[in-house]
Amino acid sequence: MKNNFSDKDLVTVDSLGRSDLDLVISKACEMENLVEKYGGSNILKGKILAALFYEPSSRTFSSFIAAMQRLGGGIIPLNNMTNTSVVKGETFEDTIRVFSAYADVIVIRHGEVGAPQKAAKITSVPIINAGDGSAGEHPSQGLIDLYTIWKIFHKIENLHIVMVGDLAHYRGVNSLAKLLANYKKVKISFVSHNILKINDNLKNALLQKKVEFYEYEKLDDVISQADVLNVTRVKKEYMTDELYEKVKSAYIVNSATLAKMKKNSIIIHNLPRINEITPDVDLDPRAVYFHYQVRNGLYMRMALLDLILNNK
Ligand code: CP
Repeated sequence: MKNNFSDKDLVTVDSLGRSDLDLVISKACEMENLVEKYGGSNILKGKILAALFYEPSSRTFSSFIAAMQRLGGGIIPLNNMTNTSVVKGETFEDTIRVFSAYADVIVIRHGEVGAPQKAAKITSVPIINAGDGSAGEHPSQGLIDLYTIWKIFHKIENLHIVMVGDLAHYRGVNSLAKLLANYKKVKISFVSHNILKINDNLKNALLQKKVEFYEYEKLDDVISQADVLNVTRVKKEYMTDELYEKVKSAYIVNSATLAKMKKNSIIIHNLPRINEITPDVDLDPRAVYFHYQVRNGLYMRMALLDLILNNK
């Protein structure tokens, strides 16, 4: 399979086609076997990853760091740019120029939509978007979600994916929905409060690819048909306190929700979880976010780093 990731940026999933997804999924399986058998390898020895996180992160930051370390590479881990010369007034552009001199790949999380694209124009070092703004993308997260679904169902085709919650501020939803558009007969249902619906860019992308999708306000209207329930957090950091109070409990997944779901369905969540899934749900085998999806983040990010950096 041709490696279209090699030496390239990953700032959006727009350019990824079905063969790219087959490749990265198969590489993630390879990484899973590698970690299970040997813990890692040295295939990225001599390469350096700079993680520049302008916004908080637990999973994305740590799993990129762990992925690079498990492949034998080095790291420049900056999980809070307030301890860097950014506080002295160094511009984003200059910061990218500087870290390009040290690193072979730069992973960026930033509060501004399009910041990773801006970085990609400044440097020839591959840029990975680790989440941009309230309504940008989170390509590696979308790929983790896709990999998790594929590993459990052994297919993506013919599945009905229901996404619920704050869909206006969920970059992972934007990436996953666009990735799903590469597969035949996938149905997507978006369930959200009227003021937290998916944005027009995503709608247009799905319309263009002729994806069957629906929008609902009541989870009960569609929950019994879901193969995958993707639950999202209400993103307090991107809204007023007044709006947050109004919408924070609009959708709570609990034992009553589980009772309405198919026996062979799954629940995924990008995490962190606040109140949108009650803790008792975690014990249900359909809840795969903690014991499965998080770990897949490591394998998928190892796969991406290998495909981008290892040109052999
Ligand atoms: N899912 C996710 O992006 O989590 P973090 O914000 O902790 O990286």
